[in-house]
Amino acid sequence: NSPLRLGIAGLGTVGTGVVRIIRQKADLLAVRAGRPVTISAVSARTRDKDRGVSLADYAWEDDPVALARRTDVDVFVELMGGSDGPAKAATEAAIAAGKDVVTANKAMLAHHGQALALAAEKAGCVIRFEAAVAGGIPVIKALSEGLAGNEITRVMGVMNGTCNYILTRMQATGQGYNALFEEADKLGYLEADPNLDVGGIDAGHKLALLASIAFGCQVDFGAVALEGIQNVTIEDIRHAADMGYRIKLLGVAQMTGRGLEQRMSPCLVPDTSPLGQLEGGTNMVVLEGDSVEQIVLRGPGAGMGPTASAVMGDVMDIARGLRLSTFGQPATSLSRCKPASTATP
Ligand code: HSE
Repeated sequence: NSPLRLGIAGLGTVGTGVVRIIRQKADLLAVRAGRPVTISAVSARTRDKDRGVSLADYAWEDDPVALARRTDVDVFVELMGGSDGPAKAATEAAIAAGKDVVTANKAMLAHHGQALALAAEKAGCVIRFEAAVAGGIPVIKALSEGLAGNEITRVMGVMNGTCNYILTRMQATGQGYNALFEEADKLGYLEADPNLDVGGIDAGHKLALLASIAFGCQVDFGAVALEGIQNVTIEDIRHAADMGYRIKLLGVAQMTGRGLEQRMSPCLVPDTSPLGQLEGGTNMVVLEGDSVEQIVLRGPGAGMGPTASAVMGDVMDIARGLRLSTFGQPATSLSRCKPASTATP
């Protein structure tokens, strides 16, 4: 059978992880997909950098747009990040050239997901983004495939590992926000723009993507009521603990009589609950549907292995011929849902 040939743009932690999986598990992947999964070409900002993995077998492109257009690439794997700029330009080029796309780019999809999904559908291409939400947890698969027979009533969870790390360390050590922010920075947890993490924006992007799939709405990141963790004090943490609660940066999306409610903010959760017990960089997503009632998914929300694992889940779907809609239904059928905050009761 003909191989599925990837072009990988971005060789940071996630891109390197994907190359490793494909090199180390080629036989397993080929058996599972019924065809080989190969890499034709790669692209990154810096070529001469030791990534601990050989790139000698792959063609090199300096320009991700050129990579996206290569005739020996079937799937463009976008792992550069950034909501606009090269990531968006190359994704659009890939779609225009009739390629399927797999991306981990939550910011790009939160801002341009609807337009990209429409363009892809028109071109007969698929865009998948499992790795964009909750790292290694296959939450998009669970929501869009496993729960496809449910009316979803609520999606909630902890979707930013860095914030969860800072908050749980404040609780455990009694140190203040600033000291733990520094610690997270030293450990390399923070995004290049740390405000994306601590301002709740990264988690808000993820929530907006899940809300779109859950409720059949066009992604509306602008309607997410956002509050970060910067103003959570050690006194807040102590008072919460005295009452039997923990503070978590919690996202909630639900359809109310007033419209679609999306909020991402520090919340009190009972310390004995699964969310209250969630430590460190872990993520947890709770999905509620009329038939299934409630399921809880927990796992690593970031890091090389877990995020590359999610990218490969999407690559394998495409290799197996699964042509799934980006947001769980055709983009043309997604509604413009009224945000709860501006809707009149
Ligand atoms: N900065 C993100 C987090 C990385 O801490 O969860 C994964 O999206």
